[in-house]
Amino acid sequence: MCGIVGYIGRSEAVPVLLDGLRRLEYRGYDSAGVAILNGGTIEIRKSVGRIANLADCVEAHPVHGQTGISHTRWATHGKVTQENAHPHSDQSGRLSLVHNGVIENYQKLREQMSNHGHTFVSQTDTEVLAHLIGGEFDRAGQRDKAGLVEAIRKALGQVIGTYGIAVLHADVPGVIVGARRGSPLVLGIGSHEHFLASDVSAIAAHTREVVYLNDYEIVVLQSDQFEISTVSGSGANFQISKVEFSAEAADKGSFPHFMLKEIYEQPNTVRDAMRGRLSATEATAKLGGLEMTNGELRSVDRIVLIGCGTAFHAALAGEYLIESLAHVPVECEFASEFRYRNLPLERDTLAFVISQSGETADTLAAMRESQRKGHRTLGICNNVASTIARESDGGVYMHAGPEIGVAATKSFTSQLTIMALLGLLLGRIRHLSHAEGRTIIAEMEKLPDLVAKTLELDAPIKKIAQKYARSKNFLFLGRQANYPVALEGALKLKEISYISSSGYPSAELKHGVIALITEETPSLFIAPQDAVFDKSISNIEEVKARKGPVIAVGTEGDTSLAKICDDVILIPESPDYLTPILSVIPLQLLAYHIAVALGCDVDKPRNLAKSVTVE
Ligand code: G6P
Repeated sequence: MCGIVGYIGRSEAVPVLLDGLRRLEYRGYDSAGVAILNGGTIEIRKSVGRIANLADCVEAHPVHGQTGISHTRWATHGKVTQENAHPHSDQSGRLSLVHNGVIENYQKLREQMSNHGHTFVSQTDTEVLAHLIGGEFDRAGQRDKAGLVEAIRKALGQVIGTYGIAVLHADVPGVIVGARRGSPLVLGIGSHEHFLASDVSAIAAHTREVVYLNDYEIVVLQSDQFEISTVSGSGANFQISKVEFSAEAADKGSFPHFMLKEIYEQPNTVRDAMRGRLSATEATAKLGGLEMTNGELRSVDRIVLIGCGTAFHAALAGEYLIESLAHVPVECEFASEFRYRNLPLERDTLAFVISQSGETADTLAAMRESQRKGHRTLGICNNVASTIARESDGGVYMHAGPEIGVAATKSFTSQLTIMALLGLLLGRIRHLSHAEGRTIIAEMEKLPDLVAKTLELDAPIKKIAQKYARSKNFLFLGRQANYPVALEGALKLKEISYISSSGYPSAELKHGVIALITEETPSLFIAPQDAVFDKSISNIEEVKARKGPVIAVGTEGDTSLAKICDDVILIPESPDYLTPILSVIPLQLLAYHIAVALGCDVDKPRNLAKSVTVE
């Protein structure tokens, strides 16, 4: 949520900053801006809308210099206007600041400073922080690097909330200062140049060496050196890490959108989620990252799965998957609810937080709350450099590569694959025999090919999408583990095409939802050849009896669906517990093609951001 990029070195800053911002656009894209320090003055350019607008603005009104900070915004406080876009300045106009996070006590601070003659031009919490730092700097009168760092320390000591910031001061040339609490920040180390960014993808094209800052750390960047200390003034231990993915991995390649590219990556990402984790000899899954012995895992008598958005849907599917394979009771919680709910958890409860980014504020807070209560809390995340990766008590990485499209796709199927691995592991130390374990492994190994086969349905799905693209309302229905898939299908469609859509267990139709059925309301049923197939057919009949159009996702070879449904998509056969990994793919493609048909901005849907780092 909001992206920051900073550059200091021997090259022109603007091209580096704009390139980085384009790569961070998934974090927010309401408005953007740059501040460039040159010859003792700071020049600012801002514009409302996408980075492309900022690039046009900079082309029309060029700005030169080798030190700069920049920002792409996802509005929290204050409307989307040029005044509210970052960078923000202090009272003197000589300090510039970009910020990701929320300053919770900004109103009180704003009032106090207003009483002392400060005037504010925006409605943002960020401008208050700029004034606070600038005020401390001017009061101390030490107009150098040490004075700026001290002013930042003092100001940060007064704020409540979260921040990832980058600061420039016209009186301190050749210096950028960054600090973080709760919002990610990474330092990039180059030769005679340094970078600062919210996410490594922004700077991966320029450097392979990075330092992921921890909460309460301050970094001072100069072109030939950097220093890291803590907000309280002590030295910090830091580690230089290698960037794991290439900048190309975060490019669209030949695909028109990241979302489509990521949908098509799923044969590989599902394979990568399993790679090296299936042991045919022991007929089980190996998940060393859990850092738990079989004895410890054996004593787990309940699992809690926590997440937001798509990750929460993966948790719901995981509940079916783990319960059916391992017979361990599973409960799912929205992270935003869990963090404030006093859920009774027994001693032998194992908690998992599921998060692609590893930075979602609610999920992070839920993890910390669970840990505070003494529960071992593991992470299932994609971003190995994330806060959840660092602070969880172990876990499983998805290894799915960067997911840039705001609508999560490949991370969902990776999460489900990991749920299956967990189910197998927990099942094998309980009731599953060696032979059963071998069967499950054989079924799982076929998955990547089945995913690839499912993707071959793209062209017919596109046709179906065009047929229904003008619908105002959509229903998604599924039973058992395909109910969470229905929720996920509805979420995909509404977030990228803005069509009102909702997901329900198929049999819930008659308890209210059926009132929505009209000739103009398509219902998508996930009705594979599973134990409840006949029941699903009855539910479809109920809709058809009321003239509702039905699209069905069924199993290859099925002939009964075609007799009663308007459109049928047949996916490869798979065991019930793995079907969600396949059945979600037509729903992802359907949402994608409908959004394209409607001319929507698929990768950057309105009001959304990829990584929600505010509460
Ligand atoms: C945002 C995104 C969703 C995502 C959710 C959780 O709302 O728009 O696509 O599912 O955050 O993200 P996480 O990174 O924690 O999986």
